Amino acid sequence: MSVGPAVPPAASGRAGPGVTLSRRGGIGLLCIDHAPVNALSPAVVAALDEAVAAFEGDGGLDALLVHCAGRTFVAGGDIAAFDAPDFDAAPFNRILARLEGSRRLVLAALHGTALGGGLELALACHYRIALADTRVGLPEVRLGLLPGSLGSQRLPRACGAELALELMLSGRMIGAEAARAAGIVDAVAAAAPVAAGRADAAAQALAAGLDYLRTLMARGAPPRRLSERPVALAGLPAGFFAAVRAREAASFARYPARAAIVRAVEAAATLPFAQGEAVEAELLRACVVSQPSRALRHLFFAERRAAQVPGLPAGLPPRPLQAVGVVGGGAMGSAIAAALAGVGLRVVLVEADGAALAAGLACTQAAARHAAARGRLSLAQAEAGIARLEGALDLAALAGCDLVVEAVYEDMALKQQVFARLGRVCRPGAILASHTATLDVEVLADASGRPADVLGMHLFSPAGAMRLLEVVRAERTAPEVLATALALARRLGKVPVVSGVCYGFIGNRMAEAYLRETEFLLQEGVSPQRIDAVAQAHGMAMGPCRALDLAGVDVAARAVIEYGKAGGLPPDPAYRAVVRRLYALGRHGQKSGAGLYRYAPGERTPRPDAAVEAICRALARETGVAQRAGIGEREIAERLFYPLVNEAARLLEEGVASRPGDIDMVWTAGYGFPDYLGGPVWLADRVGLARIVAGLERYGRERGNAFDYWDVSPLLASLARHGGRLSDWSMAGAGSASAAGPWPPGDGQDGTPPKH
Ligand code: COA
Repeated sequence: MSVGPAVPPAASGRAGPGVTLSRRGGIGLLCIDHAPVNALSPAVVAALDEAVAAFEGDGGLDALLVHCAGRTFVAGGDIAAFDAPDFDAAPFNRILARLEGSRRLVLAALHGTALGGGLELALACHYRIALADTRVGLPEVRLGLLPGSLGSQRLPRACGAELALELMLSGRMIGAEAARAAGIVDAVAAAAPVAAGRADAAAQALAAGLDYLRTLMARGAPPRRLSERPVALAGLPAGFFAAVRAREAASFARYPARAAIVRAVEAAATLPFAQGEAVEAELLRACVVSQPSRALRHLFFAERRAAQVPGLPAGLPPRPLQAVGVVGGGAMGSAIAAALAGVGLRVVLVEADGAALAAGLACTQAAARHAAARGRLSLAQAEAGIARLEGALDLAALAGCDLVVEAVYEDMALKQQVFARLGRVCRPGAILASHTATLDVEVLADASGRPADVLGMHLFSPAGAMRLLEVVRAERTAPEVLATALALARRLGKVPVVSGVCYGFIGNRMAEAYLRETEFLLQEGVSPQRIDAVAQAHGMAMGPCRALDLAGVDVAARAVIEYGKAGGLPPDPAYRAVVRRLYALGRHGQKSGAGLYRYAPGERTPRPDAAVEAICRALARETGVAQRAGIGEREIAERLFYPLVNEAARLLEEGVASRPGDIDMVWTAGYGFPDYLGGPVWLADRVGLARIVAGLERYGRERGNAFDYWDVSPLLASLARHGGRLSDWSMAGAGSASAAGPWPPGDGQDGTPPKH
């Protein structure tokens, strides 16, 4: 902390926690400068404490302006600090009380994103001004927390309990104008165009704050303290909190922070401030150490680390993209075309014949409008995207494209033909991406004749809802081609995770083990609805059988058939036999009205179908699988999830996945794995690797291991032996020990959710 003469705010990007108090005339300028987002680390809080003390001790200052350097006002508490055993919100909260209690005016000038502890800091000030493009919010719920620096108490006093609760339960941000209309900020200042840069925004916020503060002082405006204001209850229906609780109750077991938020806001509305403060503090302590919060915090950092790709220089400029081609207008091709068009790219969709092209274009338009209806795009963006969409019947139409995404059937020979032709017709420097879910991208790179331009880009169904984009880096993919795919993923609002080449990459390689056991269980006589019920009771958004029907049994079967052609299938007639048989019978899943379930015409609700049991029974006789009664929930859960973990360990061993967190991102963002369990690797450590290894070995003995299904990954076996954690593993060395927990998750210990 330094106390000195008037100085301009520090430039964006200055490293190290810095809080300065300077003076401009009679106004103290308290500037937080802690790149990248001014998060409130313990060191920043300590420096803030000193700066506020300096203001308190300086009788020559008439008022205080709190502002930030760099791209944003404080974006929250330092998320990493919650893991510290001595984490304590009290020191920061005491500083807020001192700021609010000041007899001299205290104003906050906001820019960028004032989130969490940042908004709480602003709410403790007497007045708030924000640049017009500022966004504010209390997103702690996304980390399994509640606002713990009196946000749950002050925000309802600023904008009423109903909006405060909605903002805290959704974690969404609102813009400066909406915040002003709601009473969260007092004034909005015009912001210069974004092109002026965020560091400039910091200077603008400071200037606007000074102007506003001088106006308030000239007017003789008094300090205004939210803690002294009651929560406005007028207009709140009787029984409001009970109704919210009833509405939200289903989510409380998995996301306990949601229950805590309702309780804290109710305390704000019904108790004096000091008592509400105590309620908030107690709830925060419980949330910080809860397993859902630890898991969600792990995913916050995993998501950001996934963007740092080993061997890819940071800041490598992507190739510019304006026109893109999509080859294949099926379900995925049209979803990809719609997404690309929605972010302002010119899209050319190529199909083999007129009818398929017309259907593909219609599907693309429908997907764009659906995205607008879901709020993922504005209607204007969707319509502009549709207007930019072109169709063509020949790959030659893609000659001028900067990127082409191939999304034809999962058929290696067909894809090789497409890549060979693309290699010839596309301009030099155009990127050639395959949307293959499983096939060898090296082979496609060879077929193209220009392997440096080739990579895989794999979206997940439903493409609008799933945030994952798996980027497959082949051996010869040029670094800037990879950088372009990562930048495009972000432009599309997706989370990119980079995988090496192997069958199925990270996601589907693991799914193969999961589906292998699903199909064995089906042949052993377990119904699709029972398997799905067990998977869903353990938090999966959708069980494997419903997921197969949704993604297409035909798609899954073709992938298995291609795997067979490439020599990858084990010599086991029962292996993935169910999808292949359903495919042969024309049961392609939801789209054909029947798959592992049946569907009434035009409906998406899966209904149990006795025909499936008969099909599986007949298949079991042919494949030599013994049907068994009495297969329990525990066995189903273990047989689905243990192989998933085993395969995750192999992907790390082989270097296909760079980090354990990448695997967790793939499964939570692409496969509906529950985020409150942190992903399969994170969960495996909570369950205990020794327990998982013992389970794999036991199933190997009980089920037989003729085809090596139950071989334990050497990495998993070694970590289990030495008490290591898979989440901490890196090529450079292994991590610390962890306590073993229960499996299946859901017996209430170790923070895993109770069964429903
Ligand atoms: N604590 C610690 N680090 C944080 C942080 C926080 N509250 N918020 C962001 N960061 C870090 C990120 O880890 C990232 O670090 P890296 O560059 O080493 O990967 C860096 O700041 C930039 O964040 P990123 O999310 O990549 O930038 P962005 O511009 O896309 O988004 C925010 C900025 C602030 C909107 C976004 O980071 C965010 O939502 N942060 C969390 C806010 C929050 O939950 N606050 C309440 C905490 S209790």
